[in-house]
Amino acid sequence: MRYANILATGRYVPEKVLTNADVERIIGEPVDAWLQQNVGIKQRHLMADNQVTSDLCVEAAKQAMERAGVKPQDLDLIIISTDTPDYLSPATASAVQAKLGASNAGTYDINAACAGWVTALDVASKTIAADDSYQRILVVGAYGMSRYINWKDKKTCTLFADGAGAVVLGASDKPGFMGAKLLAAGEYHDALGVYTGGTYRPATAQTLELTNGKPSVQFVRKFPATFNTERWPMLLKQLLERAKLTMNDVDHFVFTQLNLRTIEATMKVLEQPMSKTNWTMDKWGYTGSACIPMTLDDAVVQGRIKKGDLVALCASGGGLAMASALYRWTA
Ligand SMILES: CC(C)(COP(=O)(O)OP(=O)(O)OC[C@H]1O[C@@H](n2cnc3c(N)ncnc32)[C@H](O)[C@@H]1OP(=O)(O)O)[C@@H](O)C(=O)NCCC(=O)NCCS
Repeated sequence: MRYANILATGRYVPEKVLTNADVERIIGEPVDAWLQQNVGIKQRHLMADNQVTSDLCVEAAKQAMERAGVKPQDLDLIIISTDTPDYLSPATASAVQAKLGASNAGTYDINAACAGWVTALDVASKTIAADDSYQRILVVGAYGMSRYINWKDKKTCTLFADGAGAVVLGASDKPGFMGAKLLAAGEYHDALGVYTGGTYRPATAQTLELTNGKPSVQFVRKFPATFNTERWPMLLKQLLERAKLTMNDVDHFVFTQLNLRTIEATMKVLEQPMSKTNWTMDKWGYTGSACIPMTLDDAVVQGRIKKGDLVALCASGGGLAMASALYRWTA
């Protein structure tokens, strides 16, 4: 049997910091107390004017590849998960391939909004298991959402941030990857996202007026407040049952980092201590498709994930897309 193993992780956090106080100065309204109490965000990082999403990917990828001892030419495939690409077309993965000099790698992007990176990890892991011509795959989650922020919209400009996280996967006869479960509630596809710039509403002078002059991320309509706290435990339970494991077997959980209160409520439902999870929205804001690999890397760097540990990843995002995966840590 061939299994995918995570050889190493990496991340890139852009230099520029915007604290809650900085955001208050921009929007002219107090938001710090609300953000800390309701979602746990204290500050966020934004990319520089001369950076694009592929640049964030390259920095995170270089760190993961250096730690894995993998050279650009060793990569067979590069998968980028993002819903804030360099261009509508072609794929950001091609720009990353060129910038890394990974000339032997195939490339494509996966967009499942903020559930995209766990989805990409699932696809990459199964590719390694199914086809022995794939030995090394780079899987990057990247978010350049600051380019799509309407700074007049308090409900979005306070949350979203930029960053990237990456893993290098390698083939092994030991598992590694132990399964994934994807699900979507497509009836909410029009609830949150960037709705201008595609075929539905092309970017024209008229349509751009709707979002302060540029395609912007929007919360259009609400979905139930309990959406994640109901679905995350259900996804994880199904995943663990299939692997003949229980919630108590999991050593570390990594969740989508939009709302710390949601993570606390989920851990309570799972009857697991908060010491079995970590969070990064306090220092990095909400980094969407990048938040799971960035937070995974944060746990690894802090020594909170060790060889032999069982790690459960659980994501949700616009769409509403959801993805969960189980990995035995072998690095
Ligand atoms: C986004 C989320 C944090 C907003 O919280 P909420 O309690 O639903 O907030 P509401 O929109 O009901 O707003 C209630 C009040 O809180 C305040 N508020 C809401 N969002 C705010 C923000 N981002 N910053 C500051 N204040 C905010 C406002 O005062 C608002 O009152 P108003 O509408 O009269 O102005 C919450 O709905 C959530 O966690 N959703 C999950 C999203 C998710 O998982 N998405 C998947 C990944 S993208």
